[in-house]
Amino acid sequence: MLNSILTKEQLMPDDLLYLLKLTNEADLEKLFAASYAVKEQHVGTKAYFRGLIELSNICVKDCYYCGIRKGNKQVPRFETSVTEALELAQWAYDNEYGSVVLQSGERQDSAFVQTISHLISGIKEIGASPGLGITLCLGEQTPETYREWFKLGAHRYLLRIETSNKKLYKQLHPNDGTHSFEQRVDCLTELSKIGYQVGTGVMIGLPGQTEEDLVNDILFYEKMDIAMVGMGPYVVHKDTPMGGDVIQNGLDTEEERAKRLTTSLKMIAATRLYLKDINIAATTALQALHPLGREMGLKAGANILMPIITLPAYRSQYQLYDNKPCIDDTAEKCKECLTGRVLSTGDSIGFGEWGDSVHFNSQSRH
Ligand code: 5AD
Repeated sequence: MLNSILTKEQLMPDDLLYLLKLTNEADLEKLFAASYAVKEQHVGTKAYFRGLIELSNICVKDCYYCGIRKGNKQVPRFETSVTEALELAQWAYDNEYGSVVLQSGERQDSAFVQTISHLISGIKEIGASPGLGITLCLGEQTPETYREWFKLGAHRYLLRIETSNKKLYKQLHPNDGTHSFEQRVDCLTELSKIGYQVGTGVMIGLPGQTEEDLVNDILFYEKMDIAMVGMGPYVVHKDTPMGGDVIQNGLDTEEERAKRLTTSLKMIAATRLYLKDINIAATTALQALHPLGREMGLKAGANILMPIITLPAYRSQYQLYDNKPCIDDTAEKCKECLTGRVLSTGDSIGFGEWGDSVHFNSQSRH
């Protein structure tokens, strides 16, 4: 059964379900070998670096799972200045990272929107054309804001749907009028219309999430014609309502964490086999659950890495989940460490290249 699925030209939803339910080590190895081969054939084995700048942990949202939710009073709030952020972007350019990702807690006020606009314009002036690629990961905004940032030179936008199961989405977020599944989908549609390369993703191993939900997540990526995917395991943060419950219910054991990691790797593999030419990130959360988590992600079919270049002083305050790796490191250390990790998998690194989504580029030609 497994062999016949892995040699199919196009998988069906039932095949995805079968793959997500695999548990046997030898079967998993076969799965990852097959998804790595599809990555090799469709996007190549170069991993592209996107230097991740975590700009601020000030957030208007109150997601039950997230360590920087508005309601978490334990965490001191910080903001990176435009000058500091431009220095980090310059560092990324000097170190031949093709792109930067600007990520932040969510805010829609005009001071925030303008600061980001200045920052995008400033980054576009760094280096010789085409300079740095810019991915934004700044949550839900108005169409006008999305358009302004695109006009200024940002060209990719990552906005996770978190889960494509509406009922589960409701359980993950407060019912306070600011956390709507439909609104999130509308944002993704708007971003595509404007011309961004759009990425989305989910958390994997959420309480109450089934393998069927995960299959539907992959079908959601397909339906939305997504160019890139950034998804990773759910990782407990103890000072959140959901993290507290999971700990209390005895569901944060070593065994449960290992299961979430394996399911995440199976999701990367199944998504690669199904959608073939999109960009898929090996996210930092994988490494929160296993020291070699990100390498495992590359082996399962991911081709994008986001080395953290956030100022060291702010790193410990940007913990969306517990055990976040690299919080005591510098950008230099993260470069050295991740470079070694990539080369150890047999992949190479696309230094100085944007590494845009092959899927997006082939779409725009038609
Ligand atoms: N575990 C894993 N991922 C998380 N995120 C937020 N909190 C957690 C957590 N506890 C992810 C969300 C969000 C992204 C920026 O971080 O998916 O979209």
